[in-house]
Amino acid sequence: MRDRYGRIIDYMRVSITDRCNLRCKYCMPDGIDLVPMEDVMTYEEIAEVCSVAAELGIRKLKVTGGEPLVRLGCADLVHSLKAIPGIEQVTMTTNGVLLGRYLHELLKSGLDAVNISLDTLSRERFAAITGRDELPDVLESIEAAIASPLRVKLNVLLQKGINDEEWFALASLAKEKPLDVRFIEMMPIGSGREFTGIANPELREELRRRFPDLEEDGSVHGNGPATYVKIPGWNGSIGFISAIHGKFCDSCNRLRLVSQGEIKPCLCYGDAVGLMPILRGEQDAEKRRAKLRAALEEAVRAKPKQHCFEEPEHITETGRMGRIGG
Ligand code: 5AD
Ligand code: SF4
Repeated sequence: MRDRYGRIIDYMRVSITDRCNLRCKYCMPDGIDLVPMEDVMTYEEIAEVCSVAAELGIRKLKVTGGEPLVRLGCADLVHSLKAIPGIEQVTMTTNGVLLGRYLHELLKSGLDAVNISLDTLSRERFAAITGRDELPDVLESIEAAIASPLRVKLNVLLQKGINDEEWFALASLAKEKPLDVRFIEMMPIGSGREFTGIANPELREELRRRFPDLEEDGSVHGNGPATYVKIPGWNGSIGFISAIHGKFCDSCNRLRLVSQGEIKPCLCYGDAVGLMPILRGEQDAEKRRAKLRAALEEAVRAKPKQHCFEEPEHITETGRMGRIGG
């Protein structure tokens, strides 16, 4: 699919649950309302939407949450998504807590790659940021994923005065280990508005000061907007997802399917195309697929030129990141 600005839309993020087993304060603080289970798409419904999306040219899917692995049968879903004609790649974003437990099943299902969130290497700080004492399981999952055939990336969200001084220790994981460490700038969505992030250009400059022979790594690492640098001799690369200080909307390639059955054209705005009336209202399979097709095309047509994170008063998305799936 091509949108009004000529961008090719071939990637869909698929949030399969708004639940999570952690409570990162910038994403899902305690006391938030959860979507009632009956309002969450079934796996059959998710697979049907993805199959229609594949007919329209979606080639890559990212399974997200909340935390996707808290939903039972997640590996079965990955298996059925991989079986959709036209889908070339299914990857997952996870907090890592349950990844070790499900790794074997996910590999059998054909998962291609995994992004694991890791903001700190300190057990105490992990508990303070996420509200749960789960760092040992996350670190074990990371090791197990690296030892498996999966491609592994770490997502790091730095917060000023909280974990920012750990940036180099986290980046250094890419020295010995064959993984990419990516720094994501805090986006002013949901509770993220209340936190101060770190500007990626500062990190990049500091890296260059420490490693004058740093090389730009132009190769494509995934589906997304990250840019990468490589330090000679290091196994993995360092990536930057700079939503604030490096607008990448010109190359936006994505739609977002939210677990309660909506398609979001852009993370920044509240606009969404509802699919539940179609999924649950249209009993005829042929007609349902035709209506889903029209809804997906409508969402692509509605894609805005760019986000407006630099003018927070114009952001219309009021939901939390954990519901949208990042
Ligand atoms: N800005 C940027 N990234 C965020 N995440 C959660 N909330 C935000 C935000 N406001 C990230 C998490 C995780 C991924 C799923 O989304 O750090 O890596
Ligand atoms: Fe859960 Fe990820 Fe949100 Fe943390 S950032 S609460 S791990 S969904």
